[in-house]
Amino acid sequence: MNSKLSFRIDPMTKTLPKIDTVLKLRQQVSAWRAQGYTIALVPTMGGLHEGHLSLVDLARQHCDRVIVSIFVNPTQFAPDEDFSTYPRDSKTDSELLHQRGADLIYQPLSSEMYAENETTRITVGKIAQGLCGTSRPHFFEGVATVVCKLLCQASPDVTVFGEKDYQQLLVIQTMVRDLSIPTKIIGGKLIREADGLAMSSRNVYLTKPQRTKAPLLYKALQQVVDIVEKGHSVTQSIKAAKSQLTNQGFVVDYLELRDADTLELVDKDTKPDARLRIFAAASLGKTRLIDNLAVSNLER
Ligand code: PAJ
Repeated sequence: MNSKLSFRIDPMTKTLPKIDTVLKLRQQVSAWRAQGYTIALVPTMGGLHEGHLSLVDLARQHCDRVIVSIFVNPTQFAPDEDFSTYPRDSKTDSELLHQRGADLIYQPLSSEMYAENETTRITVGKIAQGLCGTSRPHFFEGVATVVCKLLCQASPDVTVFGEKDYQQLLVIQTMVRDLSIPTKIIGGKLIREADGLAMSSRNVYLTKPQRTKAPLLYKALQQVVDIVEKGHSVTQSIKAAKSQLTNQGFVVDYLELRDADTLELVDKDTKPDARLRIFAAASLGKTRLIDNLAVSNLER
């Protein structure tokens, strides 16, 4: 193997080797493959927290080498969203990934991801409609496009996503199946703060009073799940949870019970043995929070 392609962590700098072009990434991946290593990719937009790092651990359980990509993807942000203010702290991200035992950061230059005059987009269809697809119509097209590109660039055996973005996970699983992309998609569980708030890079936007209120979103989901599991009216409990959140200053985008596999809304046609999940998105000031929770499979 060409020794120039073998990256070593520098124990003094406590940061990881970083690559910013497709060519260098492919050279490193080929070198690892020549050594017989399997490769996992964890796609992220940086602003890393324990939720992301838990995916690095999961990736490590499946593969010999773990690449973490960091790219704030412009095509998944609408013009009025937070692309320009999204947390970017390469040094901290690198230190965290070093501590967690990742092998390589792939932080591509924008020009590597989007050539001038590029026009191609991936649309995934029904699974990307509803929930976040309704309020952020541009979003899943941007996500599917950038993830498809990352998969073509890194050709990982395994790619890991978090259940925090549950609809995103299903969108990517669908895309990979439909386009026969040769990678295995693995979902990692949602990681929460001690008070229940789902960890998110966007939580740093919350003011102190908003941060105190933010876990109420999770509490509202727990409350609905509790009622559904007891066999009581879903519609009533969702209505009550939404108005409690509104009274606390949230602007609720959606709070819905859906089939966990198809994302269809739950109604009289839902199979009795379907796995269910409750999904919510709500804003506190400028910060959009999303969360979801599984419902235990009880007789319905
Ligand atoms: P980002 O929000 O940085 O998230 C990267 C990965 O971390 C996603 O798979 C997300 O579901 C997961 N994640 C975030 N918070 C989590 C938590 N609290 N618990 C478990 N997993 C969590 O999602 C994106 O970036 C982008 O859309 C991307 C897929 C990178 C495409 O640009």
